Amino acid sequence: MSAPLVKVLHRLQELFQNMVSALETMILFPSFFRGFSHRRRKPFLGAHWRRRSLDDFADEVDTLFSAPLSTPKMIDMSNKIRAQIRDCLQNSPCCMLPSYTHALPSGSEKGTYLALDVGGSTFRVALIELSGRDQEMRIVRVSSSYIDNKVKLLEGTQFFDWMAGHIDTMLKDVGADYGRGKEPLSMGLSWSFPIDQTSVSSGLVIHMGKGFHCSNGTVGQELGQLLIDSCEKRNLNVEMAAIVNDSSATLLSRAYVDPKTRMSLILGTGTNMAIHFPVHEIGQSKFGVRPEDWFEYAKNVVINTEMSMFGGGVLPMTRWDDILNRTHLRPDYQPLEYMITGRYLGEIVRLIIVEAVETAGLFNGELPHSMREPYSFDTSIVAFLEEDSSISLASSAALLQKEHTFPSSPSVEDLRFLRRICQVTSRRAAAYLATGIHSMWCLRNEVEFPSSTTDLLSKESPEVTVIESDSSAKNVSIACDGTVINKYPGFRDTCQRYLDQLSAQSHPSSVSAIRLVPAHESAILGVAVAVAVAVAEKETR
Ligand code: GLC
Repeated sequence: MSAPLVKVLHRLQELFQNMVSALETMILFPSFFRGFSHRRRKPFLGAHWRRRSLDDFADEVDTLFSAPLSTPKMIDMSNKIRAQIRDCLQNSPCCMLPSYTHALPSGSEKGTYLALDVGGSTFRVALIELSGRDQEMRIVRVSSSYIDNKVKLLEGTQFFDWMAGHIDTMLKDVGADYGRGKEPLSMGLSWSFPIDQTSVSSGLVIHMGKGFHCSNGTVGQELGQLLIDSCEKRNLNVEMAAIVNDSSATLLSRAYVDPKTRMSLILGTGTNMAIHFPVHEIGQSKFGVRPEDWFEYAKNVVINTEMSMFGGGVLPMTRWDDILNRTHLRPDYQPLEYMITGRYLGEIVRLIIVEAVETAGLFNGELPHSMREPYSFDTSIVAFLEEDSSISLASSAALLQKEHTFPSSPSVEDLRFLRRICQVTSRRAAAYLATGIHSMWCLRNEVEFPSSTTDLLSKESPEVTVIESDSSAKNVSIACDGTVINKYPGFRDTCQRYLDQLSAQSHPSSVSAIRLVPAHESAILGVAVAVAVAVAEKETR
């Protein structure tokens, strides 16, 4: 064989060996290869790899999110959600849950109470002083603990042990013997999850959303007792005087100040509404076993609606909502929640980002490593981007680079795309929330004012129910709390505008009939009111 031929054969053999070891690497380290191909995609494929422009993609997202938001379509959805609510009022074990709280506060309740609040991302222990309606409710002392993912993953009684630890620390700060006396110290609990209430001060655990694992192994157990058992391990002598859902706490805190309050709304990590509702409209089976005489004095009752669970099959979902739902710990459990709350807005935006990187060249076609994990794009960034109206969007760029790992700075075009996506996502959230609130308000009108309400089916659009009435009694203020409704830039105003359009369309004589009124610190204040009402009621019976 000639020398040049040997050289060529040698080269071929070398090439073959390289190919074999590349194949081996692909098989042994597929993730490395995926990352490698991802990083190199643009240089490999040149300019043609982009299938569409960012603008085209943003237009598509906008169309998909905005299409359901015309007033007639929203009224139609509201009617369908109202039908779902009516069904659940009769039988559902998970939503439209009547509490034992029938009397709203008189406003004369006084005293200092220990209030606990388990929210979606914080646990608070507070001492609250009530001095009557004319004086401001005072937070004497409060301690807040962040509920991080590790805590959310605590199962069953471990979570209550964690809570008891924080109660213990707070009580020691108040005084060495506080909570360790002969007489048990009364406390109230605001629980931002569903509960099957069995008395003013007790309730059975129901599955928890928001990524909490504490209900694993405790579903059906008595919530107050679980906490008291954990407190006993620390020699704390406490008793549970009232347990309320956080939405009910918000209603009570506002009703203490404004006796006309009948509805409340939470929109933070999760969403919910509470409503003071006629007992006779609720299915018998929903009350469980109650003393016979309860029904004699309870004409209305505060209902925890668990509104997050409505809207399935009614509120249109995009392909990103669909991915979120399918990959969720509890698919379909809280359809409304998955499209509107602080826990999910960031994730919806992240899923859109992932697709935009893959198909429209966002971030130069490279997804920052830090955005690969589900729920790694926080809703606070979505809010920040939306608030940034500067041309350069420089502060948004700085925040993104601080929170995420960009190999090179995102371009202004990228940032404008992101901002538009955030606007579209939050606008739909405000509209879907308004639709849910509207359905609850219409239901209240139907049951509270049956004679003044006439349902007319519009001839042109049989889907649209027009409800005529002139009664100003239908005007309601809705006490609202939660970071999204009260802090997300422009969210409450957008929701209010949708509510105005919906009420004007469905009740032409009621202009601005539904008003969203912020109720700050309502969970701890409201639970103190709940304890005060329970104590007052015990004394009168
Ligand atoms: C979730 C819970 C609900 C709570 C709401 C607001 O949707 O299921 O109980 O009230 O979040 O925190």
